[in-house]
Amino acid sequence: MVDSGMIKWESPSNIAIVKYWGKYGRQMPRNTSVSFTLSEAKTITSFFWEPKENDNPSLDISFLFEGQEKPGFAQKSIQFLNQVADDFTWLKHHKIKIDTTNTFPHSAGIASSASGMSALAACLVDAHLSITGENTDEDAFLKKVSSYARIGSGSAARSLFKSAAIWGKNERIPYASDEYAVGIENYLHPIFLDFHDDIIIVSNKEKSVSSSAGHGLMEGNPYAPARYAQAQNHSFDLMDYLENGDLKRFGEILELEAMTLHALMMASTPSFILMAPESLHLIAKIRSFRNDTGLPVYFTLDAGPNIHLLYPDDCKTEVDLFLKDTLSADVKVIKDRVGQGAQKLL
Ligand code: PMV
Repeated sequence: MVDSGMIKWESPSNIAIVKYWGKYGRQMPRNTSVSFTLSEAKTITSFFWEPKENDNPSLDISFLFEGQEKPGFAQKSIQFLNQVADDFTWLKHHKIKIDTTNTFPHSAGIASSASGMSALAACLVDAHLSITGENTDEDAFLKKVSSYARIGSGSAARSLFKSAAIWGKNERIPYASDEYAVGIENYLHPIFLDFHDDIIIVSNKEKSVSSSAGHGLMEGNPYAPARYAQAQNHSFDLMDYLENGDLKRFGEILELEAMTLHALMMASTPSFILMAPESLHLIAKIRSFRNDTGLPVYFTLDAGPNIHLLYPDDCKTEVDLFLKDTLSADVKVIKDRVGQGAQKLL
């Protein structure tokens, strides 16, 4: 039993190939999703605990973002800790201090919930083991962290694992689950192990619809049943292409998933257009670059206007030239890669 202590974890963002869009119950996914784990865009979280002087059983949490108090950032984390407090009874008997930093600027328009919630869930479960003296193996630890990360933000469930992860039941992977994601690095053809993801920051504005509102809109969407069936098939087929390195088929699914996500939002009530004119302009340029060069360079988007350009390492010189010729000098690009997953730092 450890009365006071501190631990520190870092956890990356991830980019979904097959998208999670639609949920039910306690943040359970309506369909399977598959993602690459990234390496550059990550959150580093320190978690301190010490016994309370009074034993008033309520949460006592102070939260710093990049060394400063930012109530807006604290809110989501505190809400998450409240949701899981019954499973971690020690939380209400300790003073908790959380200090968190992102390696990417908040203004970059990159969602930080996947990296942030997975880093926080790793700290929470790890602190639990220290405080209670319980033991667990690495596999069970990751499953537990992933299932709590899921409650914080669905996509966060996938961020912990080396290279790639699958979340949600699927006939192709018997051990895949709706409750937690599992790593699928052992399925990956070597071409994917050092894949690139250049994130082109088209806009750094806040999203016009939050992910939770977006998931909610799927409930009344007439295309939802067809979408969920499509995502199950995409996840099933994608596993073959990830295994055999079929970049053409991988790219077809990647782009169709992004277009479907945006089409679903446009066809929701109310309707949202989450791309910017510049996103469409870039998509057209990427497609002609691919047609002209024959290089396997494909795009995807999350629920926002930024473009993720995915390609194998041996295309990097041509892609750099393409970006230099295509983008104006003030457009920011975050050069990311497939990465190692969450790591314990202290
Ligand atoms: O984790 P959430 O609830 O922010 O949802 C993320 C949804 C997408 O980023 C659009 C797709 C995905 O699977 O990551």
